[in-house]
Amino acid sequence: MDTDPTRTDPTRTDPTSRPSTLTASTPDELGEAAPAEEAPPVAPVAVIGAGAMGAGIAQVAAAAGHDVSLVDAAPGAAAASLARLSEGLSRLVARGRLTQEEATAIEGRITPVASIDALPDCDLVIEAVPEDLELKRRLFAELALGQPSTTVLATNTSSLDISAIADEVTDPERVLGLHFFNPPTRMRLVEVVHGELTARAYVEFATGLMRTWGKTPVVCASTPGFIVNRVARPFYGEAQRIVEAGVADAATVDWILREKGGFPMGPLELTDFIGQDVNLAVGTSVWEQTGRDPRYAPTELQRSLVARGRLGRKSGSGIYPYAADGTLVETPPDLGLAERLVGGPVATDPLARTLAMLVNEAVDLVRRGEASAEDVDTAMVLGTRYPKGPIAWGREIGFDVVAAQLAELDAAFPGGRYRPSPALTDGSIA
Ligand SMILES: NC(=O)c1ccc[n+]([C@@H]2O[C@H](COP(=O)([O-])OP(=O)(O)OC[C@H]3O[C@@H](n4cnc5c(N)ncnc54)[C@H](O)[C@@H]3O)[C@@H](O)[C@H]2O)c1
Repeated sequence: MDTDPTRTDPTRTDPTSRPSTLTASTPDELGEAAPAEEAPPVAPVAVIGAGAMGAGIAQVAAAAGHDVSLVDAAPGAAAASLARLSEGLSRLVARGRLTQEEATAIEGRITPVASIDALPDCDLVIEAVPEDLELKRRLFAELALGQPSTTVLATNTSSLDISAIADEVTDPERVLGLHFFNPPTRMRLVEVVHGELTARAYVEFATGLMRTWGKTPVVCASTPGFIVNRVARPFYGEAQRIVEAGVADAATVDWILREKGGFPMGPLELTDFIGQDVNLAVGTSVWEQTGRDPRYAPTELQRSLVARGRLGRKSGSGIYPYAADGTLVETPPDLGLAERLVGGPVATDPLARTLAMLVNEAVDLVRRGEASAEDVDTAMVLGTRYPKGPIAWGREIGFDVVAAQLAELDAAFPGGRYRPSPALTDGSIA
């Protein structure tokens, strides 16, 4: 697959045929993020699926000035979602974060629409229905027929291949991913994902538009997990393996990553928070889509937690036990052990081992041409709240040091998981 993000096929789509009312973001005008309040009056947008993500995306689009049609297959769901959104806006007004006029204007721009057939012509459609390839494929074929040929068709998928979703669209160059993070109203990051046939003009259009929505877009190829869900895999996997091997208990590993690494949450408590089942599903999806690359192999520890129903905070127990009100029942870390592990051999140093793998994953993504180094770092800082981007971190540690650490890990745990990316030593990433 051609994965160069700069790849284009401008002959397939005339960039000047972009919807005229959205030309605030033509490629030549791309540059610094435009403050949301400077966004010009804008064109109609539709959001398909009024669940957790769709409702938030609709609110963000309406706040940027778009008229938004909101469609949901479940009868009454779009109206119910709008009512919840209205309550949320009222809370923002009560807290002084929004004026009543602004809240009324945002709400007034969103219209529940009964079905896709009843949609007005839109300049952008964002799909946020459940993560089911066949469902999305059918929906995109239907949208492509029902909407003008210039309408940009975007999916909020977190894991599916954009090219596969565009399979039955006759002009797939206008299909791309707009991967918002949860909740879309608060998370600034949006991954703009291009499939094999997505035209560069549309990627640039979407990137510029996201800036006018007050978001920070990053561009990536439709690679398994995109940027964030791919690069983050070893953050969880290394911690689980260290606990599995009996090197340290979960509380000690989490303490090291938090206190010595500066991560806002330890990897093990974070998987409990996300849900062990959800985290395992994402990891397994990346593992399957990469042809079961050992770098992404799920751990027995996590599989067993899920099999036993220990899904984390939501089920009352996971890696840690939780009290009835959902608060974590504290387990004290072994601080003496933590001090001995950090700075010791890499195989038993949770921090060095995790960082080496994060850096490796990040540089490999860049080496394959799937995203730029700058975008990878931006995505990881905004999408996961890592204290530094992994590539900047790699520069600080030294890519040669990371390569040597991985060689040590590879010798200790053969099988390919720890193979160093050629980018660590070939000078391709300065
Ligand atoms: N929840 C997250 O944290 C998150 C984050 C990023 C991306 N995503 C992705 O966003 C998408 C939506 O996720 P969600 O969490 O909002 O799901 P959700 O289950 O909360 O909402 C999906 C909505 O789509 C509706 N729907 C189902 N089939 C439909 C159809 N044919 N036409 C119109 N509406 C239909 C459902 O009735 C439901 O209201 C998924 O692809 C998911 O992977 C989710």
